[in-house]
Amino acid sequence: MQNFTYCAPTKVIFGRGVESQIGTELRELGATRVLVHFGGGSVKKTGLLDKVITSLTEAGLSYVEFGGVEPNPKLSFIHKGIELGRAEKVDFILAVGGGSVIDSAKAIGVGLVTGNDPWQYASTGTHPERNEVFPVGVVLTISAAGSEMSNSDVITNDLITPWVKQGITSETVRPLVAFLNPENTFTVSKFQTGCGIVDIMMHTLERYVTGQDECDLSERIAEALLVSVREAGRVAIAHPDNYEARATLMWASSLSHNDLTGCGKIRKFPVHKLEHPVSALHDSISHGAGLSVLFPAWAQFVMKYDIPKFAQLANRVWDCPMDFDHPERTALAGIEAMKRYFTEIGMPTHMSELGLTPDEYDAIIDLTTKGGTRPVKSYIDLGPEEIRAIYALAE
Ligand code: NZQ
Ligand code: ZN
Repeated sequence: MQNFTYCAPTKVIFGRGVESQIGTELRELGATRVLVHFGGGSVKKTGLLDKVITSLTEAGLSYVEFGGVEPNPKLSFIHKGIELGRAEKVDFILAVGGGSVIDSAKAIGVGLVTGNDPWQYASTGTHPERNEVFPVGVVLTISAAGSEMSNSDVITNDLITPWVKQGITSETVRPLVAFLNPENTFTVSKFQTGCGIVDIMMHTLERYVTGQDECDLSERIAEALLVSVREAGRVAIAHPDNYEARATLMWASSLSHNDLTGCGKIRKFPVHKLEHPVSALHDSISHGAGLSVLFPAWAQFVMKYDIPKFAQLANRVWDCPMDFDHPERTALAGIEAMKRYFTEIGMPTHMSELGLTPDEYDAIIDLTTKGGTRPVKSYIDLGPEEIRAIYALAE
């Protein structure tokens, strides 16, 4: 087991009707004027925004609305949020939405508290100082990115060509409080539910198959989470208003990315590093869809470096019988079973399903490896040649 620090300070308020507690909780956290941040309109349609505003008003808090965040949140829009937050003198940001809204809120907070452009941190791998924390809260509407408890903030710079998607990883961006009512996810489309299931699984798997480390307890927690998500995912896709299934996905979203399953393990996240340039260059590609194509291909490419772990995963999570004489067959069967599951829940597993053709590969690889100078760290370094081989496995 590797040395680790575990700190997941976000207060989680979970269950039916928790919106009524928003105002009092925020007031206790010192909020007086709140920037209510949301996306393209789903929270207006469902009536959730009204509930949020009512709770804030009843608690005597003033607020200013700032909606319109697009999936894969853009830097130009974040700049507008920073200007608005400064002009309106807000002292709290409440993100009402999914990963894109939360990450936009986090970046606005970074801009407000540091006075710097958040891209300055994202582009250099640096982060704000420990005491530079702008209070952010979340009312989650989609179980997916795990940003409601994570120390990461992923934004897209749309002010440069080509667009670049990059994250700030810092304890300063963990939300202070998250209101998780599974009922608020009943309206998520089948496709976005599928994207969320994949992303939750990926945050768990990127901590599970990392190489050179062992932590039996973390791996068994991860396996339990993956099996629960696998089954709840099937139910939620078939019955979008099944509370228990949506509740399982929602809690799993948070647990998969608050570092619980990563304790004692090495953090590398290679498949996310392969995916982010894809959805940066193709804004219409959802993060989860990109991952469901790239993860199985990456796994097939690297499994030879860690046959025991991939075979264990296949056996314990994907119910593949263990072939003790040929564990590589078990490992491969697990990857095939995962692909079948992704197809069953309506997710793509081929590059062409993302609308990507081989003539675009060089541009994506260039962005991924910064012109071939920075390979993606994985079991081995993944440079242009290795990434091309992974794409070929995904065709
Ligand atoms: O904008 P609205 O109208 O709200 O519609 C959204 C959006 O179109 C819709 N939606 C959300 N809740 C809904 C709903 N539709 C109906 N009913 C509801 N209750 O779903 C669409 C996708 O929303 P988005 O927030 O983009 O989804 P997600 O939570 O998957 O977030 C994806 C973003 O998070 C980043 C991804 O890269 C991507 O930019 N990530 C952030 C991470 C983090 N900060 O820790 C980690 C992840 O690995 C990921 O990279
Ligand atoms: Zn992700």
